Amino acid sequence: MLKNKSLISIADLEDDDINAIFEKADYISGHMDEVLRTSPMKSKILATLFYEPSTRTRLSFEASMERLGGSVISMADSKTSSFAKGETLADTIRIVESYSDIIVIRHPLEGASLLASKFSSKPIINAGDGSGEHPTQTLIDLYTIRNETGGIDDREITIVGDLKYGRTVHSLILALSRYNVKINLVSPPSLALPNYVYNGIKDKLNIETYNNLDDVISGTDVLYVTRIQKERFVDKNEYYKLIGSYKITLNEVNKMKNGSIIMHPLPRVDEIDPAVDYTKNAKYFRQAANGIPVRMSLISIILGD
Ligand code: CP
Repeated sequence: MLKNKSLISIADLEDDDINAIFEKADYISGHMDEVLRTSPMKSKILATLFYEPSTRTRLSFEASMERLGGSVISMADSKTSSFAKGETLADTIRIVESYSDIIVIRHPLEGASLLASKFSSKPIINAGDGSGEHPTQTLIDLYTIRNETGGIDDREITIVGDLKYGRTVHSLILALSRYNVKINLVSPPSLALPNYVYNGIKDKLNIETYNNLDDVISGTDVLYVTRIQKERFVDKNEYYKLIGSYKITLNEVNKMKNGSIIMHPLPRVDEIDPAVDYTKNAKYFRQAANGIPVRMSLISIILGD
């Protein structure tokens, strides 16, 4: 049961929790007028603490709480908070937990959300911790695969791009190890999946690694494209060598089978040609829109309506 629990890693969720989140998200999508009228989170406050940039995650969490009838307090830029004066994360959390009922945090350091949860009696949601995890993005990704392809089991899922630094990839692969899927990992060797993620799932998943997208694109049901995470590179010259390693254009779309879909957690830089946006395979904007019912569902279940 998720009530009053923090969500730091996708591994914190039982299969039943994930199914309950999806069922409630379906209900919310189909009954938005009723939810708006009844304001189930009236008098609850959600705090967002973002020490790294965000468009989708922060705004969709805030919009979700507003749609549930709750209120939002936000630190959208750490430079305008007392972090800039040297306040520790632990002290910030001790303060913000007394102002709010649930705290959503994004931080550049892996483990920051876990640390925050040690100093909070209120639920903490990890909205991305460095190259670690981004579990609510994974809930949205799974929900999108389920809704757009009719299920998750028996799909061939190709994940392409920055598998080393991409936190959405780490959470997604951990989650997919619960399902009967085939995973193709496609990346330059220097951006391969870290061993600590691979070793945790290699015995549970049918998983293969490739350097060339052409080796797998025709059999793929779900093509999950990721951005090369420029902000994680210590040596920016390495980034400039890798950018453009993979680019999805109409040429790649034409090699994909009927009913296959293209996803991306966004933001994108140049890894998907905008011409692809107008194909029936492109589901990345729908994926981002799914952030609202999924996050509304998650907040409702954690805070208990
Ligand atoms: N997908 C995602 O986390 O997007 P933002 O960085 O805009 O929040």
